[in-house]
Amino acid sequence: MNTLNHLAIIMDGNGRWAKTNKLPRTAGHYKGVEVLRSITIYANSLGIRCLTVYAFSTENWKRSEDEVNYIMSLPKIFFASYIKELMENNVKVMIIGDRDKIPSETMRVINDAIETTKNNTGLILNFAFNYGGRDEIVHAAKAFAKDYVEGIRTELDEDSFKEYLYTKDLPEVDLLIRTGSEMRLSNFLLYQLAYSELIVIDTLWPDFNSNVLDQCIAEYQKRKRNFGGRNETESH
Ligand code: IPE
Ligand code: IPE
Ligand code: MG
Repeated sequence: MNTLNHLAIIMDGNGRWAKTNKLPRTAGHYKGVEVLRSITIYANSLGIRCLTVYAFSTENWKRSEDEVNYIMSLPKIFFASYIKELMENNVKVMIIGDRDKIPSETMRVINDAIETTKNNTGLILNFAFNYGGRDEIVHAAKAFAKDYVEGIRTELDEDSFKEYLYTKDLPEVDLLIRTGSEMRLSNFLLYQLAYSELIVIDTLWPDFNSNVLDQCIAEYQKRKRNFGGRNETESH
């Protein structure tokens, strides 16, 4: 059995789902939020420790103002509708990314949810929001350099560098699922995905559900994770 402590998902395909259903792109994002709610509750019931979801990338600002504004309003919709259920299920909310560029009203809603759920001990629902892997690594390197100059750090190795990443308190990412068929990382968790198992599926995020997650987990369980070492089950 491979352990599954930390699942990461690139929730892609909202726009294509909307187009297929002859709806505006915003309707795809809205449906995506409902799917996230049910997957969070399901992942928690499976005993997964942490679910990191890519909700908005540092490159997504390139989209139309209307679409960006709508996405920035989604945390309010999500938490207003679901905070009670998140509390009942002992879910703890976190966020990774550059908070400075997020509109203050959106940040206020997110901070409220983080504060409300901070003592919960179930699944960590971690939103990658205005997140970019390169941005995170540069941010970490800058913070390290500052500490080095000030004499707070004298050595740099992988363990100490990890302390500067947004994910410092989270377990290693075991599995990455990308919905919507694109075979790329789109700047997601570049440092953390070093030895994660990768699954890309055609299902668009608004069509994702617990059965599809079960299939992905079954596929993950068939994988032999070597971490660069010798595969113990091979005889040659
Ligand atoms: C992912 O769905 C959601 C965000 C990037 C916020 P998309 O909006 O990228 O959907 P597609 O890829 O255009 O179908
Ligand atoms: C990745 O999807 C970002 C999120 C799911 C939030 P994109 O739709 O932005 O990725 P690209 O542009 O197709 O690489
Ligand atoms: Mg996309």
